[in-house]
Amino acid sequence: MSKKLLKNAYVLISADDDVEKFDILIDEDEIEDLLASGDSTEVNLGEVEEYDLSGKLIVPGFINTHSHSVMSYFRGIADDLSLNDWLFKEMLPREDFLESEIAYYGALVSILEMISNGITTFVDMYMFTDQIAKAAYDLGIRAYISRGLSFDTDEGWNRRIKENIETYEKYNGLDSRIYIGFGPHAPYTVPMDKLNEVAEIAKKYNTHIQIHLLESANERKQYNLLDVENTGLFDLPTVAAHCVHVDEKDIEVLSRKEVNVAYNPVSNMKLGNGIAPIVDMLDKNINITFGTDGCASNNSLNFFNEMKFGGILQKYKYGPDRFSVEQILRMSWENGGFALETNIGRLEPEFKADLVVLDMDSFEFFPNDLSRLKSHIVYSANPKNIFATMVAGKFLYYDGEFLTLKEEKEQIYEKFHKFYQRIEDKYNNSDYSDSHNDDRDI
Ligand code: NI
Repeated sequence: MSKKLLKNAYVLISADDDVEKFDILIDEDEIEDLLASGDSTEVNLGEVEEYDLSGKLIVPGFINTHSHSVMSYFRGIADDLSLNDWLFKEMLPREDFLESEIAYYGALVSILEMISNGITTFVDMYMFTDQIAKAAYDLGIRAYISRGLSFDTDEGWNRRIKENIETYEKYNGLDSRIYIGFGPHAPYTVPMDKLNEVAEIAKKYNTHIQIHLLESANERKQYNLLDVENTGLFDLPTVAAHCVHVDEKDIEVLSRKEVNVAYNPVSNMKLGNGIAPIVDMLDKNINITFGTDGCASNNSLNFFNEMKFGGILQKYKYGPDRFSVEQILRMSWENGGFALETNIGRLEPEFKADLVVLDMDSFEFFPNDLSRLKSHIVYSANPKNIFATMVAGKFLYYDGEFLTLKEEKEQIYEKFHKFYQRIEDKYNNSDYSDSHNDDRDI
């Protein structure tokens, strides 16, 4: 049976609509129709699988435009360190101990966390992209994945490009759900001529770019956004993460090149990088979306936190009358769809059936006043209010259960912890960690 009917729920079609009661008819991976509640019993829909979702609120699935899913192993390692120590003493040495199977289970755990938090699409940059793509494919989530590309030697660079292309050739377009782009890490880790090379390759493969831009203050001294623009990179569909330290001229560049920005408020604040000038960028018509960043700097993949903290930070910066609930929801939904050039982020016919079912029978949604539900989603809700998550017409999560697991949940968690321990043991026995411990002891 390929058709599904979600009945009796309240529906928020998009950020700018009002909440109304509709029955949602889904055919394969798309929304076929929205029927006035009650009408669906009077028209002949043929054979459909019905779901009674009384007392529930259906909204578009959240689109997470920046993450590093394998980093689930690194949650809670280094909460109180400078960016430099965090990266060079804790992250990079551990990353040396990752292997394919380890990466697969790291990505799997992050994707499960995202699904249970209402995220239906994620944009990911890391190593082991074939394993991330496989994990995303196996679980049924929508994913845009790219190999993190940094330059050290020509040999290392060429190997990473080759891996990126191999993942592209194997996974791009799979199930109309998995897409592979190219991920030059940042202009301070990739020289301009290499950014130009990535632009040429991505153009040839007709795919997207993911990059970190102006995340920390000292990056301003390291490169100029005009030079990045001249590499041709921004001529491709690009998601730029962070953009915290952009000035007026940078905003001009992002605006004229239609670069999509991933706002990562929790990660930016936790690493002490500051508040991105989102309202200024919106005023210049830049398409802004939300990203969680990885577990190592966030430490959770909780989209509700991004909306709430992201919202209150902009209010703190610009005043309480700026940055409306609708603006925040647009950034969470259709702006993500716009960035990824895909019909997601709205619950309309011909859009993908990517949606989240929220349980209104909880304190976070009291009072159940329809005119306040958008506010409840942004400023009150949390992941425990998620009843179900659907991607491409398939429920991946329903009433506390994951429905697309290829092996037992307990087995996945056990393997994750076994691999976690393996990384830690190797780290603790390595020379690097010895010197790290010495440092700490001093
Ligand atoms: Ni990042």
